[in-house]
Amino acid sequence: MEIVIVKDRAMVGQHAAGLIERTVLGKPAAVLGFATGSSPLPVYEALEGKDLDWTDVSGFALDEYVDIPVHHAQSYVSVIRREVVDRLGLDERRVRVPDGRARDLDVAARLFDEAIREAGGVDLQLLGIGTNGHVGFNEPGSSFASRTRVTALTASTREANSRFFDSVHQVPMHCITQGLGTILEARRLVLVADGTRKADAVARAVEGPVTSKCPASAIQLHPCATIVIDELAAAKLTLRDYYRYSARRPARAETGALL
Ligand code: F6R
Repeated sequence: MEIVIVKDRAMVGQHAAGLIERTVLGKPAAVLGFATGSSPLPVYEALEGKDLDWTDVSGFALDEYVDIPVHHAQSYVSVIRREVVDRLGLDERRVRVPDGRARDLDVAARLFDEAIREAGGVDLQLLGIGTNGHVGFNEPGSSFASRTRVTALTASTREANSRFFDSVHQVPMHCITQGLGTILEARRLVLVADGTRKADAVARAVEGPVTSKCPASAIQLHPCATIVIDELAAAKLTLRDYYRYSARRPARAETGALL
């Protein structure tokens, strides 16, 4: 794992956008995994300022609420269109969000995983982290082998996401999410987090035991995961001085190898 600690939320966005930029420059037909929520917004904003050719890039969103109307401002299909597709100028037909309105949600989930496989797999998956340690909407207790599936949101996630709705009662109870097994198959993971309220979850994910109680701890098992966090989100990492020290690479070490 590579842990990158930067000054603030804007720098988290800049750094993670740089990793995405490198991926797209190296592979113009890259397959990207997009996250929603507040954390990735500075990443998308920073990407907007870059002169990248998005023509051949395709993407998959992490998750979607079940039975939220497609045109609802908080449906992830709307959020991805607004924050990613329109902002960056991607071809909407190349970006897929799990179908939370499908008559058969299990089939929709299976087709989503198949579509990722048919696209050749995800090259870089951007992730946020919930205060309870979820990634995607894999809540505590999720299997590390789980695939894209229908699952229930915890009360704490519905409470956390109620800021996007008029009240917590309007936050859907179910979602379709890429599974942890699906996420772990991406060639590269980039998890972004900022702010004090993420400090506990980040510490548990990065330095805690690998356990389904903290689904984000699954990133410890990934061979190429980068965690980009600001000082506040890094506050509870016991090894943060070492992460800072080890991030200073020798000048000639442009090997692409990760720690
Ligand atoms: C969103 C997602 C979630 C969020 C997490 C953090 O697609 O999969 O895991 O990343 O809930 O949300 P924010 O960034 O709003 O704090």
